[in-house]
Amino acid sequence: MAPSDRLRVAVVGAGIGRSHVRGYQQVADRFEVAALCDIDAERAHAIAEEYRIPRVVTDFAELSRMDDLDVIDICTPPHLHFEQIQQVLAAGKHAVCEKPLVSSLREVDELARGEANSGRRIMPIFQYRFGHGLQKLKLLIARGLTGKAYLSTVETAWRRRAPYYKVAWRGKWATERGGALLSHAIHAHDMLSYAIGPAANVFAYTTTRVNNIEVEDCASIALEMADGSAASLGVTLGSAAELTRHRFSFSGLVAESNTRPYTNSGEPWTFTGDTPELKEQIEQVLAEFQPLPEHYAGQFYRFYDALHAEGGMPVTLADARTSLELITAMYYSAETKTSVSLPIGADHPRYASWLPGRR
Ligand SMILES: NC(=O)c1ccc[n+]([C@@H]2O[C@H](COP(=O)([O-])OP(=O)(O)OC[C@H]3O[C@@H](n4cnc5c(N)ncnc54)[C@H](O)[C@@H]3O)[C@@H](O)[C@H]2O)c1
Repeated sequence: MAPSDRLRVAVVGAGIGRSHVRGYQQVADRFEVAALCDIDAERAHAIAEEYRIPRVVTDFAELSRMDDLDVIDICTPPHLHFEQIQQVLAAGKHAVCEKPLVSSLREVDELARGEANSGRRIMPIFQYRFGHGLQKLKLLIARGLTGKAYLSTVETAWRRRAPYYKVAWRGKWATERGGALLSHAIHAHDMLSYAIGPAANVFAYTTTRVNNIEVEDCASIALEMADGSAASLGVTLGSAAELTRHRFSFSGLVAESNTRPYTNSGEPWTFTGDTPELKEQIEQVLAEFQPLPEHYAGQFYRFYDALHAEGGMPVTLADARTSLELITAMYYSAETKTSVSLPIGADHPRYASWLPGRR
């Protein structure tokens, strides 16, 4: 790829934004990080120096005026995402944005209309999707070897204590917009939807037991999936030993992830066929697996192809909607102690905001 074919990106927010910069630089034949923006100039300069990013700005509006940028990648706190994405589209650039994309289903639906009118694209981040273990499961599903789904279990047991919640925007409904379900387990739960499809019915119990915060840090959820299978989700931020674990029981095979907390979609996964014939077919299909880059670099690599009309977007606004619809259902179920049916439309009491009691 010629250097002139590369997309020029600005990253906004120098926290997790650092991992985005690294991800773009891992696929440097496709992207060039041209600018970094953070209201904290010192934080931005440290990363710009480390990764040799030529321009540093402290005012988001300055990026809109840079004619040579193709993409603005938003890694700021959640309550800023909706407005910043709209500003990016208005400036005629593509928007990439960290999870949670926005703060309500109404906002996702509004962005979908804005995207359609803008001629530009919005790509929500779900980088866990691109680990090779999960991609192998997707290949087995696509080849029809998994069969009918029976039960999926997902466990997100991480450790977040007082130092983590010293950052002012965290732990509060007004700025974080949610707790462990929204900020931490959202990836593991997106991996479930990515493999099995959306949920049809949700019953959630949430509680705050680990930290002195407003939002939940433990949860247990029972799901009826749209395909009729069962799923069970467990979440805590109080686990001395951290792990993330997925286990999918299908009629044709059982798929089990590794348990590394932040990269459990990567290798190794185990796939156990239900019969000797299925075991052999699984081996044959997996021998054809073509590995692409993983995690952030993997999502950006596919984003480039999608913008050049080679395949669909790796994560779409519809995917973000599915994720935030589950969030809305889980919070409403926990608040009302009732089960909640999906899909959720404009007539639902929490369509405009999932915050309990409209905080
Ligand atoms: N995908 C993942 O695995 C993952 C991991 C961590 C965080 N995140 C998400 O990324 C986002 C940021 O989280 P973080 O942990 O990096 O937070 P952080 O507080 O460490 O960093 C956010 C940065 O944004 C800057 N900022 C705030 N307002 C700004 C503005 N108006 N213009 C420019 N910069 C501004 C802050 O100064 C700060 O440096 C959140 O939505 C979070 O949920 C995603």
